[in-house]
Amino acid sequence: MANIQESSRGGFSNKLGFVLAAAGSAVGLGNIWKFPFEVSDGGGGAFVVMYLAFCFMLCFPVMMAEIALGRKTNKNAVGAFAENGHKKWAPIGILAVLSGSLILSFYNVVAGWALGYAWEMFSGNFSVGQHFGEFVGNWHINMATSTAFMFVTIFIVAKGVSGGIEKASKILMPSLLFLILALMTYSLTQEGAMEGVKFYLIPDFSEITFETAYGAMGQAFFSLSLGMGALITYGSYVGKRDNMVSATSMILLADVGIAFIAGLMMFSFIFSQGLQGQGGGAGLIFTVLPGAFESIGPVLGRIIGGFFFVLLSFAALTSTVSLLEVPVSYVVDEFEVRRNRAVWIVGFVIFLFGVPSMLGNGTVDFFTNFVHYHGAEKAVNFMDFIEDLASDTFLPLGGFLVAVYTAYVWRGDKFKEEVEKGNPEFGNSLMGKYTIFALKFLAPLILGSITIVTILSKFFGIHLIG
Ligand code: TRP
Repeated sequence: MANIQESSRGGFSNKLGFVLAAAGSAVGLGNIWKFPFEVSDGGGGAFVVMYLAFCFMLCFPVMMAEIALGRKTNKNAVGAFAENGHKKWAPIGILAVLSGSLILSFYNVVAGWALGYAWEMFSGNFSVGQHFGEFVGNWHINMATSTAFMFVTIFIVAKGVSGGIEKASKILMPSLLFLILALMTYSLTQEGAMEGVKFYLIPDFSEITFETAYGAMGQAFFSLSLGMGALITYGSYVGKRDNMVSATSMILLADVGIAFIAGLMMFSFIFSQGLQGQGGGAGLIFTVLPGAFESIGPVLGRIIGGFFFVLLSFAALTSTVSLLEVPVSYVVDEFEVRRNRAVWIVGFVIFLFGVPSMLGNGTVDFFTNFVHYHGAEKAVNFMDFIEDLASDTFLPLGGFLVAVYTAYVWRGDKFKEEVEKGNPEFGNSLMGKYTIFALKFLAPLILGSITIVTILSKFFGIHLIG
């Protein structure tokens, strides 16, 4: 591992370092900001059931494939395919770099909201929740907070990940978990909370539509940082003798666990504050939580609320680092740009591409009503459009391609061989057999068909299903 640590990409000392970094990448705004509003818009419990099924049945095998490919080749998302002897498949990596960059562009804007909210909570401005529209419409503040956020991300990626971010995550991630657990306990004692828990946990299967299914799929990929090569890149840091299967399971459980707890907390708060049924959209945690913090008390509420958004920003930071790392390592390797310069250029370009997302919340009409999908009631803004495109479409597409590549080009036996370094029983275990089966049949079939139907129905108004 020593040479990996010294390499310009930065690296982690051992399996725990890898698990922490990958879990840090996975746990972020996706769990605490995105998951609750997707559940809310997707009809509650039925969405949760689909999400869990996708995570364990489809994402787990794809995750194993990405990590194995990274570990085998020790390369970035594009280079990995060439290194493995299949240069023609490198465009999968290009798609990965593209989707990562698109995701980072809007992710950074939302991270800026979280940072701004930390300030609002510390100053005791709980009413900001009722003025969320104005808050995001005020692009000056958003510009300042997002610039700060991208700056820190660039700084960390430029330094390499082993020092600051690894150490910081070791303290901050457990603190976040502790705080959400405490808030969840508090939220469950609020009046009306049980209605929220019911909405969240008892599935109403009539809510299952094609739209909720692909929303759940996109959410699963997004939350696990899957389908865009982040785990190929991080996988290249895993030691050859480490047990990949247990590492993958830990990452998956940490991510799903935190999303699940965050959901429980959110729906208790939503229902106890009587905010249910208002949809929610991208503002959900920002409209609901200030009121919840206010109910804790004027001083304690400020402190807890402020810390909550600080820790959320840190969770977002370990994710933005992984998002930026993918295009940066590609540019460093393929265009022979020095790392430091590559980080600044790529970070700056992605930041600029995020500006329309900032201006699409009422500031500039063009970005606010950016596209009107065929047959939809309302136009969506720039940010939602990029999110639909990158996270709901490109990620499952990326996952589909990785599964097909692993099963049919790289081949199941070779994949199995790689995993068996560090876990010799894998091939004969039930999990091993299932993983290969899923990569061969289940993942290509489900991911492929969902991606195609999504693209046709969402962007072209051609409805093959319902
Ligand atoms: N998974 C992160 C979250 O839930 C976001 C993220 C980081 C991501 N890296 C990624 C999403 C790579 C997709 C692909 O907040």
